Amino acid sequence: MDYYGEMASGYDLLHGAEQQKKYAFIRAIIGSASDTWKILDVGAGTGIGLSYFENISGLEPSAKMIYEYHGSKTLIQGTAENLPFPDHSFDLIISVTALQNFADARMALREMKRVSKRYAISFLKRSQKREELLNAITEVLGPGRIEEGEIDLYYFNLGQ
Ligand SMILES: C[S@@+](CC[C@H](N)C(=O)[O-])C[C@H]1O[C@@H](n2cnc3c(N)ncnc32)[C@H](O)[C@@H]1O
Repeated sequence: MDYYGEMASGYDLLHGAEQQKKYAFIRAIIGSASDTWKILDVGAGTGIGLSYFENISGLEPSAKMIYEYHGSKTLIQGTAENLPFPDHSFDLIISVTALQNFADARMALREMKRVSKRYAISFLKRSQKREELLNAITEVLGPGRIEEGEIDLYYFNLGQ
C-alpha cells in the first residue's frame, strides 16, 4: 500500500493543523471572489481544504484518504495526470502540498491547464524537485505570484 494509504487514519491528527493554515492562507489571498467560482482541489487528501471554499470539489487517488472525509462536498477518486473532467470545467484549481508526490507533475499541470484558467498551487519547499517543479509550473501555467511559506512554496495565477 502507498504511503498515504498507510497513514490515512492518522493524517488529520498528524498534519491537519498545518494543512489548515495553508488552505487559510490561500483563501485569504484569493478572497471572496472565489465564492462564485467553481473550484477543484487536486490531491485533496482527506478533504481538509473543502471547507475553505463554497463551490469546491476534490479529487484524490487514495480510497483510504477519501474514507477519512466526513464533510458534505464531493471528493472523488482519480489522479492529477488524468483529470476526469471536460476542458474548461473549473474557474480555479487548488492543489496543496501534493505536486511533489505526483508521478508526472508536468502532465498533471497540463491537465490543470486544460480544465481551468486559474491556479493556486503549493508544494513542499524542501522537496528535492523544488527547482524542477517551479520551472514546470511557470512553463506550463505561465508566470505567477510566488510566495514562500514556512513549509510550502505557493504559486498563484488568478488571471484577470
Ligand atoms: C500531503 S497530502 C496533501 C493532501 C491535502 N491537499 C492536504 O493539504 O491535506 C498529498 C496528497 O496527494 C495525493 N496524491 C499523490 N499522487 C497523486 C496523483 N498522482 N494525483 C493526485 N493526487 C495525488 C496523495 O494521495 C495525498 O493525499
